[in-house]
Amino acid sequence: MGSVTPSSPFLTRAMAAQVDIDRPGKIVELGPGTGVITDALVARGVPQDRLVLIEYNSEFCALLRKRFPGATVIEGDAYNIDRTLGHPAEGTLATVVSGLPLLIQPMETRCGLRDAAFRLLAPGAPLVQFSYALVSPVPVEGADMKIWTSPWVLRNVPPARVWVYRTEPVPA
Ligand SMILES: C[S@@+](CC[C@H](N)C(=O)[O-])C[C@H]1O[C@@H](n2cnc3c(N)ncnc32)[C@H](O)[C@@H]1O
Repeated sequence: MGSVTPSSPFLTRAMAAQVDIDRPGKIVELGPGTGVITDALVARGVPQDRLVLIEYNSEFCALLRKRFPGATVIEGDAYNIDRTLGHPAEGTLATVVSGLPLLIQPMETRCGLRDAAFRLLAPGAPLVQFSYALVSPVPVEGADMKIWTSPWVLRNVPPARVWVYRTEPVPA
């Protein structure tokens, strides 16, 4: 379910389009690889100093530091997002954007990432993930989430869709 080909500009733009730039807080990207989605985020207008990139491949991390000198690049495990980020305050992240090949992971790992991401995200803030599969890459069973999927992005190898997950805003 992973791909050796970086996501196309059509898919990266579709991912970046789901980020609400006006929402305050950090934008965390999981599995940025060479930075094709990061590039689309910056092109969309996200200041580099709002970006935190979690990538476990050290060569990619070195490349990301060169390409995006204003971003925070963390070499670490995105599935342990809370610990890898240094336990930030809950409910503070603006968006989590993921290029991780989630479907190759066991259900427990995917549920763990989903739950940790939603603890860290501000109420109503999105978790954005692309997938080549027909089924949701983020487990939906037992989670109170709103889900939106983009049309298929055919100009990507393989074709993919963007999935956006949000928890309901907490009433004041
Ligand atoms: C399918 S590639 C996506 C790369 C890029 N975002 C794109 O869309 O083309 C997945 C990326 O996730 C990284 N990755 C895989 N498992 C990871 C983990 N546990 N923590 C951090 N990064 C991980 C890989 O090194 C790779 O760069």
